[in-house]
Amino acid sequence: MAIREILKMGDPRLLASAEAVKTFSDPMLLALIADLQDTMQATKGAGLAAPQIGVPLQVVIFGTGTALKRYPDAPPIPPTVLINPTLTPLGVDMEEGWEGCLSLPRLRGLVPRYRRVRYQGFNEHGEIIDRTVDGFHARVVQHECDHLWGFLFPMRMKDMAHFGFEHVLFPDEYSSDE
Ligand code: NI
Repeated sequence: MAIREILKMGDPRLLASAEAVKTFSDPMLLALIADLQDTMQATKGAGLAAPQIGVPLQVVIFGTGTALKRYPDAPPIPPTVLINPTLTPLGVDMEEGWEGCLSLPRLRGLVPRYRRVRYQGFNEHGEIIDRTVDGFHARVVQHECDHLWGFLFPMRMKDMAHFGFEHVLFPDEYSSDE
């Protein structure tokens, strides 16, 4: 379909709450998902939310397929389309991990997230998704769903001393072509 422009931090549309999808398997929804997939692949992200391309609907996609270079040590996450999600923390354990976001290019921050979560929602055909995950998978889901409630990862950080440019924080990973 098309590679879409990604809104950057500072755009008020990234701070709005997204609306629930009402109709599944609909051509407009499938076109939106194709655009999200093309845009995520082109940017090698691990996830993308519809509000990031200016569409205020509760649709996120994620998966590690095209993001292996950015997250070389991460366990694989299956390619997922998640619509109208609810997210339930399982337990109170949180862990800190480095995150990036296509709306904050070249920046990374250390973000606390729940270690284990259950997420529920639907795929693009209205089929139920219900998974219990932990670690990196749980982190990615929390990050992407946050885009639907108007949160960007720096808003979840506890210590802004651990926020900076990736080529400065991780000079070995970002030495040549980025
Ligand atoms: Ni993001």
